[in-house]
Amino acid sequence: MHDPVMLTNVLNSAGELAGKCVVDCTFGGGGYTKVFLDEGASVVAIDKDPAAIERSKSFESEYGDKFHIHHGSFVELDEALGAWGADVIVADLGISSFQVDQAERGFSFMKDGPLDMRMSGDGLSAADVIADFEEERLANIIYMYGEERLSRRIAKVIVKARAESPIKTTADLVRVIESAVGRPKGKKSKHPAMRTFMALRLFVNQELEDLEVLLEKSMHHLNENGKLIVVTFHSLEDRIVKQFMHRFKTKPAAVSEVWPEAHASLQDKVFVLPARKSIKVSEEEVKNNRRARSAQMRVLERVS
Ligand SMILES: C[S@@+](CC[C@H](N)C(=O)[O-])C[C@H]1O[C@@H](n2cnc3c(N)ncnc32)[C@H](O)[C@@H]1O
Repeated sequence: MHDPVMLTNVLNSAGELAGKCVVDCTFGGGGYTKVFLDEGASVVAIDKDPAAIERSKSFESEYGDKFHIHHGSFVELDEALGAWGADVIVADLGISSFQVDQAERGFSFMKDGPLDMRMSGDGLSAADVIADFEEERLANIIYMYGEERLSRRIAKVIVKARAESPIKTTADLVRVIESAVGRPKGKKSKHPAMRTFMALRLFVNQELEDLEVLLEKSMHHLNENGKLIVVTFHSLEDRIVKQFMHRFKTKPAAVSEVWPEAHASLQDKVFVLPARKSIKVSEEEVKNNRRARSAQMRVLERVS
């Protein structure tokens, strides 16, 4: 079961939904989508995980043509929406409880399973990265995506350990990391494997790169008074969303080095930030759902 995170905040920011077109870029367990549909919106949902697509089948039968699902990455927003505009585009980033709770998906350092971590099931798995990448590249990934200051030490120990026997499971990798940096020091301290697992997950799924593309593409689909709402769980994700939204609301042309032709078509549109700062998850919600503890949300609105 996945408890939708910051759903009340998302609904408050989205405003009236009846008759609107909402894109749920991260369908997951359909927690957001269900509420959008019950509020009277039409929903185009996206997810790259085949298991999420399977879960969406009951939505198709229950909501008919009010619901459409696109199986793929949210970078395919153009394909998912076609020529449609959207009144609300929402992304609730990261992984769902369905994914983290299934040991065989390999996302969790707390559960033993194959070292996989691919949301889509395609491409390089975390085990491939650990088996094949050279030491310096591994260290860079662990440092950049996991903000792990012991990245060099961990990469060195991984390379030494894999020469002796392959690192195939989450438990294998946890053991190797513990041999590099020590075992967990108590209930309150962070697990020593946490940052390396985060790094591998972000890298394997290209999460930060895809987020940048999604933000860019969203701007072309927002209707007048449309809102882009992004819930993040990680400082690196939030930084990308914050920088994008702040640059965009001040001067669309400022982002045009990245994608000049596309931004030219946005020059006459006006975007604002309803709140300058991110909206943090409430203590109340965290009490009921520990997994929401690092969540925060940002909103960008197109006013004309
Ligand atoms: C945190 S969950 C969303 C939960 C959802 N809001 C709910 O209430 O059930 C994130 C979902 O987004 C999907 N996802 C993450 N990155 C994606 C991407 N680039 N493209 C498509 N889906 C993605 C994951 O597979 C996962 O199912």
